[in-house]
Amino acid sequence: MAAIFPMGRILRGPRVFLRRLDRGQAEAYQRLLERNRLWLQPWMPEVPHPLTVADLRKIIAGEHQELKRAQRVDLGLFRAQDGQLIGKVALHSIQWGVSFSAGLGYWIDADLAGAGLMTEAVARVVAVAFEEMGLHRLWAGVQPANRPSQRVLEKLGFVREGLHRQELFINGRWQDQYFFTLLETEFYARRAQWVVKGWLGD
Ligand SMILES: CC(C)(COP(=O)(O)OP(=O)(O)OC[C@H]1O[C@@H](n2cnc3c(N)ncnc32)[C@H](O)[C@@H]1OP(=O)(O)O)[C@@H](O)C(=O)NCCC(=O)NCCS
Repeated sequence: MAAIFPMGRILRGPRVFLRRLDRGQAEAYQRLLERNRLWLQPWMPEVPHPLTVADLRKIIAGEHQELKRAQRVDLGLFRAQDGQLIGKVALHSIQWGVSFSAGLGYWIDADLAGAGLMTEAVARVVAVAFEEMGLHRLWAGVQPANRPSQRVLEKLGFVREGLHRQELFINGRWQDQYFFTLLETEFYARRAQWVVKGWLGD
């Protein structure tokens, strides 16, 4: 998998691009997380407090290790117009064997939400997951109250399969999660539309 995501590879969408973070981006990553601490709190594992640039350097180094072990892929999300780091997209919980599946995680700067940027970003990563990594199924867990996240998945054709009860301890309590999935056949059925929309970039 490290061959699919070499350092410096850029995945381009119409208004965003994605690439692995390097340690030199730890400061920008730290500022972004600090600024979005409250925005992320209801939906994601708590951002550690305090959070130093040194912590982020370690986190980025850990991301590189997990990629080498083919366990997860962490990509920084950048705005194309000025190259600013604006969020993250990850393929996590990657299972090979008889599964060939991965979970999707994502978040964007609160100030830039609602403009369709995450849909473009996730589409680009979904394409690499099926076309290059050879995965068979992608999934995402989303709290019932998180409509924006559900919309991202619905716009990409993910199917809501059911409710996982009290699946994650987030924001001080056990949260239910809707379980969404997209199969590789469903991706390939939509691929041409995504090309027309410019979502598959270069
Ligand atoms: C979820 C998240 C990544 C979406 O990113 P985004 O760039 O805003 O996504 P998009 O703009 O591509 O799509 C969002 C959709 O939700 C819709 N939406 C926004 N607020 C909504 C609401 N309160 N109710 C219903 N729909 C809503 C938008 O209108 C848009 O749909 P549309 O294109 O059909 O109009 C962003 O909200 C975020 O980072 N949230 C905090 C972290 C998080 O929840 N991560 C996901 C955990 S599962």
